Amino acid sequence: MMEPVHVSIIYYSSTGTVHALAQAIADGAEKAGARVRLRRVAETAPPEAVESRQEWAQHLADTAHVPSATADDMEWADAVLLGTPTRFGNPASQLRAFIDTLGGLWFQGGLADKVYSAFTASNTAHGGQESTLLALGNTFYHWGGIIVPPGYTDPVQFQSGNPYGTSHVAGDGAPGEVALNAARHQARRVVDIATALKAGRAA
Ligand SMILES: Cc1cc2nc3c(=O)[nH]c(=O)nc-3n(C[C@H](O)[C@H](O)[C@H](O)COP(=O)(O)O)c2cc1C
Repeated sequence: MMEPVHVSIIYYSSTGTVHALAQAIADGAEKAGARVRLRRVAETAPPEAVESRQEWAQHLADTAHVPSATADDMEWADAVLLGTPTRFGNPASQLRAFIDTLGGLWFQGGLADKVYSAFTASNTAHGGQESTLLALGNTFYHWGGIIVPPGYTDPVQFQSGNPYGTSHVAGDGAPGEVALNAARHQARRVVDIATALKAGRAA
């Protein structure tokens, strides 16, 4: 019997929105039969910036138990989902800082041939969710990744409305059932495709 696919969910979140999506993705991936690692990237902002927003400092303290992402979490995984808030239409520098530690693994071919997918949040509906997800796509291309977006492959996608990856407008409040179900669907789809690839390679 084939070992379950390994899925790493690696994310950054200042105030908990992307963290909530990451947890739903972990839930969906586990229910689809994957072995899951949920990892947050290190906070790189100076303490005075973090402490300038109570919700930011609180979320950092609340998630201190979530293990920090390392290159091993990339190497171990058959599929990786990256999550980040939008920052001026781009991924957060904290996630980019983690990505920028992966040059050695990339050079050894250790990032190629995996399944990749991404999720995000922004404060406003047209605040850069798609550009953020597409920017992560640029990196997946460089890695030789197999990009698996949700598309419109489930009825929930017609409610959540983002075929590039799960996203949520944080200005509307915490992610509700539509966003969380879209996250679970994205995870299931990633696991299904990664499982088919793993089985095909083992055959
Ligand atoms: C420096 C900075 C830049 C941001 N840029 C955008 C933006 O371009 N568009 C937008 O809608 N929201 C923007 N936001 C809001 C964040 O995307 C939003 O707070 C985040 O998605 C919430 O996710 P989190 O709770 O996981 O941190 C920005 C926030 C910060 C701090």
